[in-house]
Amino acid sequence: MTSRTDLSEWQTLQTLAGTDGQRHMRDLFGRDEGRFERYSGEAASVFVDYSKTRITDDVLDALLALSKACGVTERRDAMFAGEPINETEGRAVLHAALRGGDRKFAVGGEDVTGEVKAVLSQMEAFCAKVHTDEHLGYTGKPLKTVVNIGIGGSDLGPVMVTEALKPYAIPGRSVHFVSNVDGTHLAETLKVMDPETTLFVIASKTFTTQETMTNAQSARDWFLSKGAGEADVAKHFVALSTNEDAVKGFGIEPSNMFRFWDWVGGRYSLWSAIGLPIALQIGWKNFRALLDGAAAMDDHFRGAPDRENLPLLLGLIGVWHRSFLGMHAHAVLPYDQYLHRLPAYLQQADMESNGKSVTLSGEKVAYDTGPILFGEAGTNGQHAFYQLIHQGTDVIPCDFIAPAHSHNELGDHHPKLLANFLAQPEALMQGRTAEEAKAELIAGGASEEEAERLAPHKAFPGNRPTVSMLVEKVTPMTLGALIALYEHVIFVQGAVWDVNSYDQWGVELGKVLAKAILPELQGGEAGTHDASTAGLIARINGLRG
Ligand code: F6P
Repeated sequence: MTSRTDLSEWQTLQTLAGTDGQRHMRDLFGRDEGRFERYSGEAASVFVDYSKTRITDDVLDALLALSKACGVTERRDAMFAGEPINETEGRAVLHAALRGGDRKFAVGGEDVTGEVKAVLSQMEAFCAKVHTDEHLGYTGKPLKTVVNIGIGGSDLGPVMVTEALKPYAIPGRSVHFVSNVDGTHLAETLKVMDPETTLFVIASKTFTTQETMTNAQSARDWFLSKGAGEADVAKHFVALSTNEDAVKGFGIEPSNMFRFWDWVGGRYSLWSAIGLPIALQIGWKNFRALLDGAAAMDDHFRGAPDRENLPLLLGLIGVWHRSFLGMHAHAVLPYDQYLHRLPAYLQQADMESNGKSVTLSGEKVAYDTGPILFGEAGTNGQHAFYQLIHQGTDVIPCDFIAPAHSHNELGDHHPKLLANFLAQPEALMQGRTAEEAKAELIAGGASEEEAERLAPHKAFPGNRPTVSMLVEKVTPMTLGALIALYEHVIFVQGAVWDVNSYDQWGVELGKVLAKAILPELQGGEAGTHDASTAGLIARINGLRG
């Protein structure tokens, strides 16, 4: 199999990295009045400006040629056709089917649309029963509080979305999330729970994850310790899973199980039964709108021509930054407090997907793959780590995301927020030369000598790439579209990097070793470890007595 680096398209981009990739965007904007129009677009109500990235027409043409040479379109079509593109697990990757509505999807030639609809109907009916107080707790009280117990993909998506869509929450209802196996997470959550009005949602694709099973068992013990009987568990515990046997084994009746399928990856599962806590919080109509927003982005990704295809373009620009210009990290900076968990969600989506270093055929990659993703809501991040983004030695491409309207138009808060959303990318692109800094210092009254001394500290290199994304408002529809946009960007990058974006073997070894160590912390015999681990185990055992 040809390595990506052997492709002439790859080599063209390597050459361009030394020429066009080094041009200052300030000059590119200065020489090209149409840059913004040419390098921006809209899909599914998400407007994207990628003009402040280090691209030229030649770079974009070369990236699109690389995409062709890597068969990105064919792989996309294979994904939507339900082919087993997750090759190391022999699975299809068909989260798009979950939100597809009347669009037809099949896995291995078998139509899955019917079973998707059946589970969605089951979820809808259950939400209706909870919301109309038909499904009551064991003492006859309404179930006003939901506690979702899950981790990773069975937590981060629902957490992010329920935070993002808080303005749509049904009054008088609340959703809480417990993920960490640290007992503190569950204990602190249960402190404010009333067992008579709490519904526990046990969310785990495999239903074997240590953290989730431990928390679920402890939640069940707590529930029973408060006066409820075994028979009451059925009213207060439901499961979201692909593993019916394990759900039964835990004591949850199959009628209280909402299933999904192995072709739904954990980090792509918020559209499935895993979205139940979202639907319980925002109601069915809004959950459906979230799915519809994502489906609209799917349609765009499948149907838009390459030069207008936003997931394709953003994915390729990300590859350009990472693999050709050597940028190691990527910041996601939502200028909307409701989106404050988006970076954490995307950390798993992106880093668990493309944090890979072997190709599909098992060879070591000869280029950089997935970046380190981090972020924080603006403007908070500005007062924390933006210093490094502006003046640090690493160049970190950033995504700036904002709604034109806030759900809380309070005085002039939103114009101020938007001014920052606009100013940061402008500053990152323009920078400020030492001469400009010196002139400003002198204009501000500094002496020539003082200005000379301070100018290097006050200069900004600029030429730091940013993508700005704008929606009218954060709604279920626009949020669905935004998330799907990121999912497809990750897909495109994985396809170009020739890695499997849909497995996660890298999380396994730690799990296996933790299982082996656990008995040693519970009075069992010492195992064989390196001196550091053995020393730490002995020290912990000494401290815990
Ligand atoms: O962290 C590894 C992982 O397998 C994730 O991919 C997944 O989202 C998470 O654990 C939780 O898995 P499950 O839903 O099976 O409990």
